[in-house]
Amino acid sequence: MGGALTRRLVGAGARVTVLDDLFTGQAESIPTGAELIVGSVTDRQLVDELVAANSLVFHLAARNIIASTANPHDDFETNIGGTLNILLAAKKARVDRIVYTSSASVYGNPRSIPINEDDQLVLLSPYAVSKLGGENYCTAFYESYGLPTACVRYSNVYGPGQRPDNPYCGVVSKFLADVHAGRPVSIHGDGEQTRDYTFVDDAVEATLLAAIHPRAEGEVFNVGTGIETSVSTLAREIGVALGKPVDVRHIDRRDIDNIRRRVVNIEKARRMLRWTPQVTLDRGLAATAAWFVDSSFAEAVREAAHP
Ligand SMILES: NC(=O)c1ccc[n+]([C@@H]2O[C@H](COP(=O)([O-])OP(=O)(O)OC[C@H]3O[C@@H](n4cnc5c(N)ncnc54)[C@H](O)[C@@H]3O)[C@@H](O)[C@H]2O)c1
Repeated sequence: MGGALTRRLVGAGARVTVLDDLFTGQAESIPTGAELIVGSVTDRQLVDELVAANSLVFHLAARNIIASTANPHDDFETNIGGTLNILLAAKKARVDRIVYTSSASVYGNPRSIPINEDDQLVLLSPYAVSKLGGENYCTAFYESYGLPTACVRYSNVYGPGQRPDNPYCGVVSKFLADVHAGRPVSIHGDGEQTRDYTFVDDAVEATLLAAIHPRAEGEVFNVGTGIETSVSTLAREIGVALGKPVDVRHIDRRDIDNIRRRVVNIEKARRMLRWTPQVTLDRGLAATAAWFVDSSFAEAVREAAHP
């Protein structure tokens, strides 16, 4: 996400500074024209300095769900402690807006779908706790100090640039790598679990609108498509995008696989931000597959599968 957002901002002529400890991020993902500072959001002094020099803050730094489940304390320090550092710095520097990137994980297993922003939140993982903690801090800083925050709750973002060599990469790049290499794709459980897959450019657009729209202050927005897709369907569609057969292997579910259905209602972002996702799953997967096949990963995964 961060690479795509930075590319878009640099393309629009913005001066962009990226703070990343490269825990999962790669320096190569940062486009020319943006400055990368390698450091952590847990470093309060560094955060203070960087935020003071900028007028807009996009807060994407996070330990992801897999890292978080393995090490909740580390997650707490980055996802909650880091967010608090950024908000305190933003308050001191009086920034124009801070956009916090939250997750549809905060809904857990919803009682009804599509999920609205004000539906019940059910926290089934340490990651969901920490992402909501960050959101709650944003709302509290907006209410207590008038800090202009806005939160977006992303649902399963995918797209070009999501590297399969990252052990924490999303399901789309994992399946792309497997199908391309002629390996079976591994599906945890029966494959009927559903998600709302969001193309990265659509998520970037919603994030930018949350940064500039006057009505976004103090608000939380779902960012998805409103379309529910099962993991089995996703695997099939990836086969179509690559023009290759898909062999599925069902394996045991993991401790993070405790959410059965997810699809979010995006009417609030449509209405208040005038945002509508533009990219359908088949077009998004085709663009992601084309990127993947042209990237250095394609040959590498095929060689690893057939040395
Ligand atoms: N991709 C998705 O499907 C999705 C869904 C819901 C929410 N989100 C949220 O969107 C944001 C971006 O997600 P992404 O998919 O690009 O994830 P990602 O893991 O690729 O990006 C997170 C970035 O934060 C960096 N980071 C981690 N700990 C840090 C620290 N202590 N200090 C500085 N940088 C640190 C990582 O190196 C990485 O570059 C995250 O906040 C994530 O929780 C993403």
